[in-house]
Amino acid sequence: MDRSHSSASVGGVTVVNHPLVQVHLTKLRNKSTQPSLFRASVRRLAALIAYEATKDLHLNQTRVQTPLEETDGVELAERVGLIPILRAGLGMVDPVLDLVPTAEVWHLGLYRDEETAQPVRYYDKLPPESPVDVAIVLDPMLATGGSVMAALMTLREWGVKQVKVVSLIASQEGVDAVAAQFPEAQIFVCVVDPILNDRKYIVPGLGDAGDRIFNTVNPH
Ligand code: PRP
Ligand code: URA
Repeated sequence: MDRSHSSASVGGVTVVNHPLVQVHLTKLRNKSTQPSLFRASVRRLAALIAYEATKDLHLNQTRVQTPLEETDGVELAERVGLIPILRAGLGMVDPVLDLVPTAEVWHLGLYRDEETAQPVRYYDKLPPESPVDVAIVLDPMLATGGSVMAALMTLREWGVKQVKVVSLIASQEGVDAVAAQFPEAQIFVCVVDPILNDRKYIVPGLGDAGDRIFNTVNPH
């Protein structure tokens, strides 16, 4: 097995190659994984992918007083916004907010129409002005790319200059569609799966991320 851990970037898509990513991704894919381990695996993967996605954040120099003396330090120079796409993106907020505690969280409500697989907007409270400097869209699944592209359009209208997408599993068709319409967006994922099935689910994928996070697979 290849043990090189360098992440591969092709055409705006970075596939984060790390042994822990592979291990936790396997938990997500396994249909026997129970919701609590599924949620924990989403959190672990979100942190690992966000670590990679935040490598180029800009810093300001500062000074800090240790118990012994004053020394150099840094602080984030940019306003960072986390943009979880409801519902499944909610499962990724806390681990990324732990890494970037000063981030703002702006929720976008989108669901896929079951018949057409087109995204339907139902919640958006972005303010009319003062966009963040860097927006990080959070959604575990990038299938057709329709939901992420709807979010990216909203962020473009808000005036955000730098946009990153942190996802867990993407399809090749989805990343190609996003790259064609939003070439400036940087996409970070654990893996790009080869196909979508006739219901536009990612194959092999992990099934329905929102249902598996929120344990709504068999609603009563
Ligand atoms: C899922 C997923 C993405 C979207 C991906 O959400 O979390 O938002 O589908 O598919 P796309 O790339 O083809 O748009 P879903 O619509 O199932 O809503 P949910 O998170 O509320 O379950
Ligand atoms: N949404 C999901 O949750 N899973 C898929 O495979 C596609 C869309």
